[in-house]
Amino acid sequence: MSAARIAVLVILLAGVAAAVWFVVAPRTSQAVEQPLAFSHKKHQEQDLACLDCHAGAEKDQYATLPSMRACALCHKEVKGESPAAAEVTRYIEEGLVIPWQQVNRVVGHVYFSHKAHVRYGEMACAECHGEMATLETPVTSSQVEHLDMEACMDCHQARGAANDCLTCHR
Ligand code: HEC
Ligand code: HEC
Ligand code: HEC
Ligand code: HEC
Ligand code: HEC
Repeated sequence: MSAARIAVLVILLAGVAAAVWFVVAPRTSQAVEQPLAFSHKKHQEQDLACLDCHAGAEKDQYATLPSMRACALCHKEVKGESPAAAEVTRYIEEGLVIPWQQVNRVVGHVYFSHKAHVRYGEMACAECHGEMATLETPVTSSQVEHLDMEACMDCHQARGAANDCLTCHR
């Protein structure tokens, strides 16, 4: 291959790479750091239901991250052996709130409602969030970023849910 051809090839490949980056980059969410090593699995073993900690998931738009009150039910005294559990007790004693980072989020002009899906649509959390009950580490990146407009509309179409623009943009 001549030098000129290689140069053209390099430029073409760079163009393709840039195009791929343009399409992929905005969807690749950055991983966040969570303040404590929380285990969903260990709490599932305490016979807690998802709604005990995410109280809005069935009755409101937002599922909500748990309040300290939900933790204080058990963690006023240190549970188990792990340093993370001791930290929870310290937060409670000092009247502080654990600064969890919300990782699942739709863009601002989109309206999403948990109540619509969980109560009216009778959908399991796992349909959109995967199997949370067995998770041993905190969630650090979006589980719903694949729910772009097409994915939302495809499921609405398949299940006979409303699909006019104002359903999701209001
Ligand atoms: C149809 C898909 C879907 C189902 C079913 C679903 N979620 Fe969500 N969840 C989402 C989306 C989309 C977001 C981002 C919402 C936003 O930005 O307001 C989200 C965000 C969240 C959040 C963080 C933000 C918030 O709303 O407070 C929590 C916690 C959560 N979901 C828990 C649950 C639980 C618990 C269930 C089951 C009881 C559930 N979700 C069922 C799609 C779903
Ligand atoms: C029903 C009681 C109960 C509630 C409510 C509860 N926990 Fe726990 N939690 C426990 C027990 C018991 C352990 C110890 C489990 C073990 O070591 O096997 C634990 C362990 C932990 C740990 C250490 C995790 C690990 O991997 O060892 C963290 C962090 C924690 N809890 C955070 C929380 C937070 C945050 C809340 C509130 C959102 C909460 N817990 C609510 C009972 C509870
Ligand atoms: C896996 C299937 C599924 C996915 C994915 C899904 N939905 Fe839905 N959605 C439904 C169903 C089913 C209903 C109707 C529930 C009912 O009323 O019976 C619904 C209802 C709704 C409603 C309420 C409609 C009304 O008439 O009030 C809104 C708003 C909504 N969805 C937005 C979204 C958005 C935004 C997304 C993507 C981020 C999304 N949905 C993803 C299945 C889905
Ligand atoms: C003892 C309280 C507790 C219970 C029970 C619990 N969670 Fe959580 N959940 C948390 C805490 C604390 C976080 C933030 C740390 C993390 O990501 O693990 C969280 C985070 C989440 C998130 C990520 C929210 C976001 O976007 O930032 C989802 C989704 C979720 N939980 C779903 C569930 C589901 C589904 C169940 C039931 C199988 C469940 N949770 C049971 C306490 C709980
Ligand atoms: C079932 C939910 C749903 C319906 C119905 C819906 N959209 Fe969207 N729309 C979304 C979501 C989710 C996004 C965010 C897309 C993303 O982040 O990839 C979006 C994004 C958009 C955007 C921003 C550009 C983009 O692609 O990010 C425009 C413009 C838009 N929608 C217009 C419309 C119009 C016009 C209609 C009616 C024909 C419509 N939408 C119906 C869910 C919906």
